[in-house]
Amino acid sequence: MSQQVRITVTVNGARHTGDVPARQLLVFYLREDLGLTGTKVGCDTSSCGACTVLLGGESVKSCTLFAVQADGEHVTTIEGLAGGAGAAGQAPPGGLHPVQEAFREHHALQCGYCTPGMVMALVSLLREEPAATPEQIRRGLEGNLCRCTGYTPIVRAAASLTRPHGPAGPGCPGGPGDAGRAGGPA
Ligand code: FES
Ligand code: FES
Repeated sequence: MSQQVRITVTVNGARHTGDVPARQLLVFYLREDLGLTGTKVGCDTSSCGACTVLLGGESVKSCTLFAVQADGEHVTTIEGLAGGAGAAGQAPPGGLHPVQEAFREHHALQCGYCTPGMVMALVSLLREEPAATPEQIRRGLEGNLCRCTGYTPIVRAAASLTRPHGPAGPGCPGGPGDAGRAGGPA
């Protein structure tokens, strides 16, 4: 039987304490233990970015970390962005986060499977590079794969939020306790 380890993780502003198998991946802790199924599993081999969340200010692929590595940390998942709830804190009450709103406006999703990971990666990227160029956005999304859109509308959505074009200045995405970076389209 796998060794159990007690961890405390703050996810989307809510503190969770519980015992987890020492080798349980963070993505399965989020999806199965906490029921936060917005975070997707696309490959399980660290290739697709569908599992991207924010951990302690950095975007990470949650299939590459054990849940125990999140002990004492703040995690933000896609569920924490909308409605002004959770750790991201950039959405108006009842509204979408600016990155989600830009995806809606620019038709940046089709099947939607990659979308939570894309959004989380961009939340981090735009916080770190609020004036990112389309090329920087493409490079920043190199670890996130999309089989549907061809990436152009995703880049367009992100570019609509950069400083020269939109209201999103430094700190637009992210927020207290949010965490930052995983990997995007070629
Ligand atoms: Fe984590 Fe694909 S499921 S990178
Ligand atoms: Fe289908 Fe990206 S919208 S994989």
